[in-house]
Amino acid sequence: MSQDIYLTGITTTGTPHIGNYVGAIRPCVTASKDSSVRNFYFLADYHALAKNEDPDKVGQSTLEIAAAWLALGLDTDNATFYRQSDIPEIMELTWVLTSMTAKGLMNRAHSYKAAVAANEEGGNKDPDKGITMALYSYPILMAADILMFKATKVPVGRDQQQHVEMVRDIAQRFNHHYGDVLVLPKAVIGDNTAVLAGLDGRKMSKSYNNAIPLFADEKRLRKLIMKIKTNSLEPGEPKDIEGSTLYDTYKAFATEEETLEIEKRYREGIAWGEMKQVLFEYINDHIKPARDEYERLMADPAIVEQELLKGAKRAREIAVPYMDEIRSAVGIRKLG
Ligand code: TRP
Repeated sequence: MSQDIYLTGITTTGTPHIGNYVGAIRPCVTASKDSSVRNFYFLADYHALAKNEDPDKVGQSTLEIAAAWLALGLDTDNATFYRQSDIPEIMELTWVLTSMTAKGLMNRAHSYKAAVAANEEGGNKDPDKGITMALYSYPILMAADILMFKATKVPVGRDQQQHVEMVRDIAQRFNHHYGDVLVLPKAVIGDNTAVLAGLDGRKMSKSYNNAIPLFADEKRLRKLIMKIKTNSLEPGEPKDIEGSTLYDTYKAFATEEETLEIEKRYREGIAWGEMKQVLFEYINDHIKPARDEYERLMADPAIVEQELLKGAKRAREIAVPYMDEIRSAVGIRKLG
């Protein structure tokens, strides 16, 4: 059995929030330090175009996400950390795979179907209104991201599981036609990674406008934590940990012992105002060293650029020769 290769992408829209941190960044940073595992992490900046993002925002988001991962201690000597657009072979592979992808398969992609459903609900006559070809066929770009590095394991949220299954379908069809060239990946769904609720109690998401940015400054962080929704129980009344966003968020950061201590204080009737203060201090202390490093990197983007170029160089050592092999397999060959 050959070694597993893990690969995951982060679309460069928005700025990282604490839900991204506990759900994705933290487990990836931990995995990046494990020398027995091969990890690829990349900034999916071409994916950001599918949503017609503002050009300045795409650039800013790329910088913020890269700086955040680096500030949190990503081991870029062990893991390969790169920007998708620095690997032109991914784009070449996208076209080759597009030629092997059934249109009917793309009709069934969740991302596309969700956009159509939103149009229908909105009473639009044209179900494809505002839908770009990039959004329609973005599982193919995702396939190129994954297949380019022969990834066997792809950690993603449940919403991306179907897309990874489509990658398998595409790779299988390719191999059937051209021989055994591509490696079939499997999605890894992190059921035990924490999903945080946002300020209003719904899942934390930038599209709900309920997120706490990971590197908000102290003042803003305090202000946002004070806004987290609670019930109307008075100080001194015992409180339930079940369904308490304050509790769940504390638990996602604290040790088991500290969490048990907070459970006790809930039973004793800790006031919501006090719990908010406890949570603010805990997160602030936890984040502070990384926030200082993040600010240093944001002030000197050349350091971040260097890191990404280092990753791209390593990634292309794999992608360039493999793309030659793939091109040759499909009949794009030197003539003499
Ligand atoms: N589409 C993924 C998301 O929105 C991001 C992504 C792009 C990705 N390419 C990938 C994830 C390849 C895993 C593997 O979350």
